[in-house]
Amino acid sequence: MKIDFTNKTVIVTGGAGGIGAAIVQLFQECNAQIIATGTNTSDLESLNQESKGKKTDYIHLDFTSNESIQKFLGHIDKRDRIDVLINNAGVNKIDSIKDVSEGDWDWINNVNLRAPFLLTRAVSKIMHNQGYGRMVNIASIFGVVSKAKRAVYSATKWGLVGFTKAVALDLAPYNILVNTVSPGFVDTELTRRILGEKEIEKLLNTIPKKRLADAKEIAKTVIFLSSDHNTYITGQNIIVDGGFTSA
Ligand SMILES: NC(=O)c1ccc[n+]([C@@H]2O[C@H](COP(=O)([O-])OP(=O)(O)OC[C@H]3O[C@@H](n4cnc5c(N)ncnc54)[C@H](OP(=O)(O)O)[C@@H]3O)[C@@H](O)[C@H]2O)c1
Repeated sequence: MKIDFTNKTVIVTGGAGGIGAAIVQLFQECNAQIIATGTNTSDLESLNQESKGKKTDYIHLDFTSNESIQKFLGHIDKRDRIDVLINNAGVNKIDSIKDVSEGDWDWINNVNLRAPFLLTRAVSKIMHNQGYGRMVNIASIFGVVSKAKRAVYSATKWGLVGFTKAVALDLAPYNILVNTVSPGFVDTELTRRILGEKEIEKLLNTIPKKRLADAKEIAKTVIFLSSDHNTYITGQNIIVDGGFTSA
């Protein structure tokens, strides 16, 4: 089975690092035209240099800035087609509910939930007009189960799973399929920094596959759901967690 995105335009938010970068790389291998977003202007400049010939534009987009969001939405509006939207950008701060500030609540909600809403609304109009689209929202196992000190993160990811289901129902008649992919513990710099080596050792015993996920394993699932091979899956939450939430 060959997956090909020739002549398809794909948006990946948070595409400059971590899971987003793995998603961008697979789309590049499948010949997509890619708009990848990031917040660090100098990183984006380097990525634009490095990716010459790979049909990828790295564009600045900071979901904590309304000005940045409006600029990006203006950019999207000028595009003839958007075939695929991947809402991947996300943030987390680990805190007991006693200590969560309203500022952190707003920040995490703005990036994890309000941003996918704004992009989905804008892109759904374009997809509706062209009668085709695929959207994948990156949630988390903490949108299915939870853990202490994840109240805000969990609220946004459960919200994203519910949002996805409702949007899928709105858009199914127009050949637009909308799903969530929920990663378990992925071997990224962020995971290693937040959890530390000792915590990861303990964690491995609770994962039936006895290892962290590789970001590519998340990306492969995203690519399938975004492709023409997905013709009937919509409103679903595909959990890629090595069996963690089944145990
Ligand atoms: N790693 C895991 O184990 C894991 C597990 C379950 C779910 N997830 C989810 O997977 C997604 C990707 O996470 P990751 O692990 O790859 O972490 P990451 O490396 O920290 O990536 C997060 C991405 O979000 C972007 N981002 C952060 N703040 C932003 C803002 N204000 N505006 C726009 N973009 C912003 C970042 O862009 P810049 O780098 O350019 O700032 C970055 O590309 C997230 O939604 C996360 O919740 C991760």
